Amino acid sequence: MASVCVDKGLEGVVVNASRISKVVPEKKYLVYYGYPVQELAEHCSFEEVAHLLLNGELPNLKQLSEFENQERKNRTLSKNLISMIKLFDMSAHPMDTLRTAVSFLGTEDPDTLKDDHKSNYKKSINLLAKIPCIIAANFRHKKGLDYIPPRQDINIGENFFHMCFGEIPPADVIKAFDVSMILYAEHTFNASTFTARVIVSSLSDIYSAVTGAIGSLRGSLHGGANEAVMRMLEDIGDPAKAHEWTLHSLEEHIKIMGFGHRVYKWGDSRVPTMKKYMLKLSNWKGDTRWSEISNIIEDIMLKEKNIYPNLDFPTGPAYYLMGFDIELFTPIFVISRITGWTAHIMEQLNNNRLIRPLSDYTGPQDRSVKPIHER
Ligand code: COA
Repeated sequence: MASVCVDKGLEGVVVNASRISKVVPEKKYLVYYGYPVQELAEHCSFEEVAHLLLNGELPNLKQLSEFENQERKNRTLSKNLISMIKLFDMSAHPMDTLRTAVSFLGTEDPDTLKDDHKSNYKKSINLLAKIPCIIAANFRHKKGLDYIPPRQDINIGENFFHMCFGEIPPADVIKAFDVSMILYAEHTFNASTFTARVIVSSLSDIYSAVTGAIGSLRGSLHGGANEAVMRMLEDIGDPAKAHEWTLHSLEEHIKIMGFGHRVYKWGDSRVPTMKKYMLKLSNWKGDTRWSEISNIIEDIMLKEKNIYPNLDFPTGPAYYLMGFDIELFTPIFVISRITGWTAHIMEQLNNNRLIRPLSDYTGPQDRSVKPIHER
């Protein structure tokens, strides 16, 4: 078969078919199994969307209750895992500790190497249930606070707040958290999802794939951008400084975090919904500084560069207003994206072929090895 050279970064290349989600950038359109993501965010819980991604259908009441029960029963972390989290260096980034803890989950699962759909579905629920608990346990450890065990009578978002802070915020805050979870859940063949698919395509296991995906997500060109956005907003600090700061950064050719996207060149379909909830959080907290700075940067970026914000731009300040430390923002993204990753892993394995592209060799040609004393 003739080989094909493609653009750097695989831009514009379709590498496989997928039923899970679709982006139509020029229409600012993103659907999960045919449902517009904005509608899912307004009308569904994160658990309903997780069911959709893992099963291909929104649940009815009975299916949702069964799904939630399954997830809630899997929340308990083993004593060994909790002990291991306590061994992590206090200064370690929570994405590093999460990556290690997810890899450890693979050692605890007797079915790690079983790769039939039923086992992988079970493991997907295990990861969905345990990842928020691992992040919260590590958060408390880093603050020198006691571990708070999970509750089984509340949803994923409520339980995450409970395990981090020992209390659950008002329903509006939980809704904003849920909306961010739904918007972050799935996004076609992004870098971390593709990483996960590549890993399982060798018939490796789901825990290895998710460990790799976490490593991919943490980079600042991908999920790590939500942390970078908040650090940037903190650095600016005052709406009165935002205009000059942004123009100066553009002059210096510094990338503005939370702007631009490989696929969305006319705006990110998820941003208006998240912006709305970020504004609600600002009003709830009585702190509109971050949205004021954000609006100024957004106006300048559009005017000067015609570049739009991506989802990380409003989620950064939204998580900050919810009370989370900045270094938790990308791990929080994982709580959500684990649904998309595991949906893609199962889809890949249901019709697998090893992913093995070619490279275009640009090194030296036709050399012969001289004995070492002649080199
Ligand atoms: N700030 C300033 N300029 C930006 C920019 C940003 N955030 N994003 C893109 N650009 C500019 C680039 O400098 C480049 O300009 P040039 O052609 O004059 O050199 C042009 O737009 C194309 O950018 P490029 O980085 O090649 O696009 P890409 O498709 O490879 O990258 C991202 C997409 C997301 C990696 C990129 O936009 C970026 O780094 N954004 C900031 C990080 C971020 O928010 N990541 C989260 C993504 S959801």
